[in-house]
Formats: sequence, C-alpha cells, structure tokens
Amino acid sequence: MCVVGARPNFMKMAPILRALAAHQPPLAALLVHTGQHYDQGMSHQLFEDLGLPRPDLNLEVGSGSHAVQTAEVMRRFEPALDAHQPACVLVVGDVNSTLACTLVAVKKGVPVVHVEAGLRSYDRKMPEEINRVLTDQVADRLYTTERSALDNLLREGIAPERVCFAGNVMIDSLVDNRPHARPIADTLRAHGIDPALIAQPQGYGVVTLHRPSNVDDAETLRGLLGVLGEVAAQLPLVFALHPRTRNNIERFGLGGLIDPQRMALLPPQGYLEMLGLLRDATLVLTDSGGLQEETTALGVPCLTLRENTERPITAEQGTNTLVGRDAQAIRNGVAEILRGDGKRGRVPELWDGHAADRIAADLWQWLGAGAP
Ligand code: UD1
Repeated sequence: MCVVGARPNFMKMAPILRALAAHQPPLAALLVHTGQHYDQGMSHQLFEDLGLPRPDLNLEVGSGSHAVQTAEVMRRFEPALDAHQPACVLVVGDVNSTLACTLVAVKKGVPVVHVEAGLRSYDRKMPEEINRVLTDQVADRLYTTERSALDNLLREGIAPERVCFAGNVMIDSLVDNRPHARPIADTLRAHGIDPALIAQPQGYGVVTLHRPSNVDDAETLRGLLGVLGEVAAQLPLVFALHPRTRNNIERFGLGGLIDPQRMALLPPQGYLEMLGLLRDATLVLTDSGGLQEETTALGVPCLTLRENTERPITAEQGTNTLVGRDAQAIRNGVAEILRGDGKRGRVPELWDGHAADRIAADLWQWLGAGAP
C-alpha cells in the first residue's frame, strides 16, 4: 500500500509505482491519497503531469492544524488498512501524512517502508523534522538518498541492516520528465504575462517560499519580500506562490511590496511547468527541500533561504548555498551568481534516474525473505 498526501510526495511516488509494476515479477501496489493536498494546482495537475494513476483510495482529509490533520489521516487510514491487509505500507518524504500512516501501520504490525529516510535538519522546530525522526524510528525498511543519512540513522540507534542506500527517486522523475519540460515563455503567456519580462541578458530567477518559519510571521515575510524586491530590480523574478504564502501576503497586506513589472506572480505550478522554469533559470531562491535537490541535479545555482538543510549533499557537492534570511547574505549570494561565480556542483552518487528500480528490487527480496 503506497501512500501520498502532499505535493512533494507525488514526484517521489510516480517512479516507485512504475518500478514496482515493471519489476519481474511485478509487485502489486494500491495507491492511497490522504487528501492533505487537494487543489487542482497542488494535487490533480501533478498527478496528470507525472502519469500517476488515479488513487485507489482518497481519504479526503484536507487542511487543518497539525493535530487535526494527523489525527484525521490516522482515523481514515485505519479502516483502509484493515480492508486491504497489505504486505507493507510504503511512505515517502516527511509530510504529516507520512507519519500518520506510519503510526497506524506499525501499531497494527504491518511493516513500514520509508523512502527518503535519514535526512535531518537537526531543527526540531520544523514540523517535517519531527515527522522524519519518528517515521524512521519505527519504519522497518529505510531507503536513503545520500550517504550522510545512514550516519544520522545510526546516531538514533537504527540498525544498519534496516537501511539501504538506493539514491534519489525525486531525481528519477526529473530525468524522466526533463525532455517534456514546458518552456517558460508558454507558462508566462498562459497566465497573461508578457515573456518580454524575462528576456533580459542576465536571464531570470525563480522564487518559491512556503515554510511556516518564513511566511507565517508578518515581519519576516515583509523582510523577505523587501530583499526579493531589491533582487528583482537587477534580475526579473518569477515567483510561484504556494497557497500558504499567497494567503499570508493578503492577510498581512504586503502585496504592495511586489512590483509586477519585475516580479511575475504565478499560482502553484504543474510539474512540467516548474521543470521548465528551473531548467533555464539563472538562479533559484527557495526554502523548499525538493528544489534544493532539483537545482543540484540540473546544475542551476540555488540560494536556500533557511538556516539549515536536511539535504547537506546539495550544498557540499551540488549548487546549493544556505543564505538564511539575512538580507546581506541574500544580496551577496545573488551578486556572486550574477558575476558568474555561482556554484557549478556535480550530481551526487545514485541520483541517476534509477533509484526506484533499486528500491523495487530490494523490496522484492526483503518481502520474500519474510520481512521484517
Ligand atoms: C506541506 C508539508 C510540507 C511540504 C509542503 C509542500 C507538512 C507538515 N508540511 O506543507 O512539508 O513542504 O506541504 O507544499 O506536512 N492549501 C490549499 N490547497 C491545498 C493544500 C493546502 O489551499 O491543496 C492551503 C490551505 O490553506 C492550508 C495551507 O495551504 O491550510 C497549508 O497546507 P498544509 O498541507 O497544512 O501545509 P503546507 O504548508 O502545504
């Protein structure tokens, strides 16, 4: 039983489902969508872009506080698990749905498989960090994306036999879909924006922001929009707005800080649109986990507006630089890239488009050996 809930889960699950089906013999999978994300832009469009099948079950939990959302997923997932009696529950990433379904399964004695295990920001104020630590603690089979993840898991007392370094399934999706990325000019035109905005000698930058620590506090968000305005004066920006961020800009009355002549605001983008925006960008400014990895795989310089990252390989080997929320650090990072001194990086080990095949092969063996 394969579980997805929120946007960053979908690009991880698509290659896994394909690899399970292509495995000889095939591994049968049932897809459960918890409904944590439910909009056309946050969910349906991505299913379509990624060729994900319609979920066999949709729990339709929707939005809520962490407690309400997590509890509601648990309450609705339990009868589904009872009805289908899967050999294991496979969860990906670090969203509330990941932890909620893990808790239900493990307490019923159903083995849990966690894809993207062992990533740690060591910042327990991040809800995702709590989800990661707790999921890994009780999962039976753990697939990691980078070698440092094993060290994190060992530190938490997890037996190394439970861990398998499989590579990065998110990059499987990127490799599969790169040829189909939608040109940015088409995306802008589709939203009534003249592509002349980005036809500048220095190109354009892409922005995404949605972490509660960056967008839920009015003064923090005001400060970030102020610096982005300065950056936009030098380099036109395309800002794909998460609903949390859009709501907060409205609620805090910060819309005036955005100059539409220099910063194109877009609604949440489909996977192929986002890939098109990223692929040709001069730089990316983001607080997303996934974008840190995707820019590393694409070789595009990325400035991460966070103090820490749970994906250290993107900074050590890839194109990622942590700049936090400090205005001067952001300005310096942008200036460096515009001078042509941005990180070039290299693609990390096993980010090769075949991570899901390795997971399917290992899972078959593991289940066959009477897991866990
Ligand atoms: C969640 C994940 C985060 C991930 C992010 C990607 C957790 C704890 N957080 O955060 O790790 O990086 O997804 O987007 O699981 N909303 C909509 N339409 C939707 C979904 C949400 O408008 O389809 C709005 C609602 O106002 C909701 C808010 O976005 O309250 C936040 O959604 P939620 O799923 O609670 O958290 P995210 O910030 O999206």
